[in-house]
Amino acid sequence: MAGPVPDLDETARACAARLRAAESVLLASHIDADGLTSAAIAATALERADIPFETVFKKQLDDAEIASIAAREYDTVLFTDFGSGQLDAIASHEAAGDFTPVIADHHQPAEAETEYHLNPLLVGIDGASELSGAGASYVLARALAEEQDTTPDTANRDLAALAVVGAVGDMQATGGELVGTNARIVAEGVEAGVLEEGTDLAFYGKQTRPLPKLLEYASEVQIPGVSNDESGAIQFLDGLGLDLRAEGDWRRWVDLTDAERQTVASALVQRALERGVPAEKVDGLVGTTYTLLDEESGTELRDASEFSTLLNATARYERADVGLAVCLGDRTDALERARRLLQNHRRNLSEGLERVKAEGVTREDHLQWFDAGDEIRETIVGIVAGMAVGTEGVDSNVPIVAFARKNDEETKVSARGTGRLVGQGLDLSVVMGEASAAVGGGGGGHDVAAGATIPAGREQEFIAEADAIVGEQLG
Ligand code: C5P
Ligand code: C5P
Ligand code: ZN
Repeated sequence: MAGPVPDLDETARACAARLRAAESVLLASHIDADGLTSAAIAATALERADIPFETVFKKQLDDAEIASIAAREYDTVLFTDFGSGQLDAIASHEAAGDFTPVIADHHQPAEAETEYHLNPLLVGIDGASELSGAGASYVLARALAEEQDTTPDTANRDLAALAVVGAVGDMQATGGELVGTNARIVAEGVEAGVLEEGTDLAFYGKQTRPLPKLLEYASEVQIPGVSNDESGAIQFLDGLGLDLRAEGDWRRWVDLTDAERQTVASALVQRALERGVPAEKVDGLVGTTYTLLDEESGTELRDASEFSTLLNATARYERADVGLAVCLGDRTDALERARRLLQNHRRNLSEGLERVKAEGVTREDHLQWFDAGDEIRETIVGIVAGMAVGTEGVDSNVPIVAFARKNDEETKVSARGTGRLVGQGLDLSVVMGEASAAVGGGGGGHDVAAGATIPAGREQEFIAEADAIVGEQLG
């Protein structure tokens, strides 16, 4: 890029000034946990700044969707958690005078420029691990607050909690903790009193799952005789000499005292080591957890990871309105509804994973793939592909590509890699972008996780293209 690189805050201030000057604002965001939290952060900041707006959610921002946004005749469109990858199409609408775009995103930008473009990748910050869409929206929210007559304490820093939920939802804490700009946001949230950062068991479900389920379903580290083994998990817990039941029901992790947690965690480590789990995997039993202090203990909302899954359970099933309402503070009807959607989402993920295990993947030279057809919803096939990596029959040394039917004409593609593969040169956003373009589709995303839409029937050709590109990147 020519000239000095303006830092994120500077761009954020320009974006904030543009939003203040807008006649009408349409807020458009993506339908996953990061997109929902992005929208909630932006919506709250706009409301606090007395800037009227309306909100829409889109599954994917393609040319048709951008055209439909343009047709709504808002003078300014704020895109959160997408927009960068479609900058070419957006910029042509801008040039035509349809709207002024303001973008807070973290996806790989397309070849085009626009003035109000807040994206970590433009300033040398990694968009897959250091800042999410919600994080970019938070940086914008902070800039919007700066001009307001508020005390520094309340200057939208409470929104850091949602930014962390978005980052965790985008799997930006996969190395065990949030890093880079994300870590700065965590620190602001801690200082604002809305977040607590702690070291704890890395299993999903510490707030809500009864202990045996917490251990049985844990996929982070597989412990022989405990993971995927209901009676094994119960036996293990019963053998610890603790009183882990209350009135006949199993207690949850959140109900335990520190000493009890220590006992369970140590026993898990010991069991894992005894049963031959490699030491570096055993290290993964412990990780950094992010607790939302304003939320009730023992609820999904208290833990950033559980909160993000709850959100994915809404927006990926066409109920972004429910997830957004929860983010904005609805703890009655919307939360009830979200919980029912979560049960459905969990069932779909586990059935999807079972299906991949049963049918297996097809191995090419440099990647592996499966076609879920109609069996897995296109909005969650990427999550299932990611969860499948490392399970039996799925190689974690090559990327995984998954297909799902979108409609009669189109197939959805999701691709997932690992941090190690990215270190070796893998960039799935390039793979998805180029392989889809070669068969008449479009795609993009991040180096470690990307996606595409391609014409139905071109899957084999797409795989051949993608396989060759991955081969070049890793060769
Ligand atoms: O569109 P968006 O950026 O919000 O989606 C990012 C996707 O990338 C998420 O589905 C997330 O699970 C995935 N991801 C991943 N592994 C990483 C980083 C992101 O699977 N290390
Ligand atoms: O849908 P999935 O979770 O597989 O998406 C992975 C990443 O790829 C997300 O960041 C998503 O925004 C991006 N993607 C894209 N273009 C598509 C499909 C997905 O940029 N057509
Ligand atoms: Zn995102």
